[in-house]
Amino acid sequence: MTPSIVIKNISEIATPTSGVKRGTELSELSVAHGISIYIKDGLIRAIGNYNTLKDSINGNPQVIDGKGKTVIPGFVDSHTHLVFAGTRENEFGKRIRGATYREIADSGGGIKKTVEDTRNASKDELVENASVYLDKALQNGTTTMEVKTGYGLDLETELKMLDVIDELNKIQPVELIPTFLGAHAVPANISKSDYVTEVLEMLPSIAGRAKYCDVFCEEGYFSVEDSRKILEKAKEFGMKSRIHVNQFTDNGGVKLGVDTGACSVDHLEVVSDEDIKLLSNSKTAATLLPGVSFFLNYGYPPARKIIDSGCITVIATDFNPGSCMCISMQMVMSIACTQMHMTPEESLNASTVNAAHSLELENVGSLEPGMQADLLIMDVPNYQVIPYFFGTNHVETVIKKGQIAWTRN
Ligand code: NIG
Ligand code: FE
Repeated sequence: MTPSIVIKNISEIATPTSGVKRGTELSELSVAHGISIYIKDGLIRAIGNYNTLKDSINGNPQVIDGKGKTVIPGFVDSHTHLVFAGTRENEFGKRIRGATYREIADSGGGIKKTVEDTRNASKDELVENASVYLDKALQNGTTTMEVKTGYGLDLETELKMLDVIDELNKIQPVELIPTFLGAHAVPANISKSDYVTEVLEMLPSIAGRAKYCDVFCEEGYFSVEDSRKILEKAKEFGMKSRIHVNQFTDNGGVKLGVDTGACSVDHLEVVSDEDIKLLSNSKTAATLLPGVSFFLNYGYPPARKIIDSGCITVIATDFNPGSCMCISMQMVMSIACTQMHMTPEESLNASTVNAAHSLELENVGSLEPGMQADLLIMDVPNYQVIPYFFGTNHVETVIKKGQIAWTRN
């Protein structure tokens, strides 16, 4: 018997309505007070006044008092590099003293350093490392997470990373969606064109293991033409794309994303009005990563323009050891609000329902009867406090697929 749960007399339920949000829709939330939620067999069965809802309750559910609490959907973190070995805190100090991300990469640090560490780590070590981070993500309210490979840059290690993601999906509650990022950087001792060929040759072995294919489409990494080759081939193997574009330079990555029907183009720190227009007329989401601009201390993506022109806007952490050592979606919401002028409502929609949509998941991201019961009981009186009272974890209980996955003691 799957346990059932009733959260009773909740001070505030704040949720997006289901379905993707563009433009002014991104400011809309459904907010209700003093009502209850009935959860059974992994799904939300009813939301409403307790007196009405109690007739539909079977058996003896666990009852949780919602007084003083706010309930929101679990966060969907749609862009992470969760699996890696080692950390790069030494680069943090260097950057503060003036070195740029590119300079650090060119002097043997950056992605290549993490590739070396990840190649040298066993599958078990990687599972152990990632579990520690994943625990923190769960405690901070993430119930679904996209996870990229890309610290292998050879077939053996890329497959090892996918094995790690599979294993994590078996042993802990956060649902992980794997993305293949073989083209994250060009490894040492091989030309870029030979490595692009190698990535193309990896695809048959990756097919069926990763839902998406990603490429770091950026000057000094992979050109639009390299990226197009990889993404088009990946499509033949059943992988749609979500790509790193326009982080440092504008080299045509947005158009590539739209042309190849990418589910999302991510970063967009440097993006033209023309590309925003192109995106707004497409089904490709614009995934913004406020934690990266905060951590690397450079320009933020023009979120207001992106939202106001009607793009499907998403925010995510980009958790990784180089450009964003932050796994808290609450913190990302705060940065999105204070630094990118997104409203609290927009930041909540962008980190739940729109993020789920960009991962083609329609059963999570909002709280309605019939949806998967992925939700957070927050120790705040209303949803606006979440980004406002920043830098602290407001999650009290995480419910994933109808079961308590974590609760504060
Ligand atoms: O999304 N930009 C490329 N990839 C990551 C950084 C990875 C790293 O520095 O290890 C990003 O920012
Ligand atoms: Fe990234």
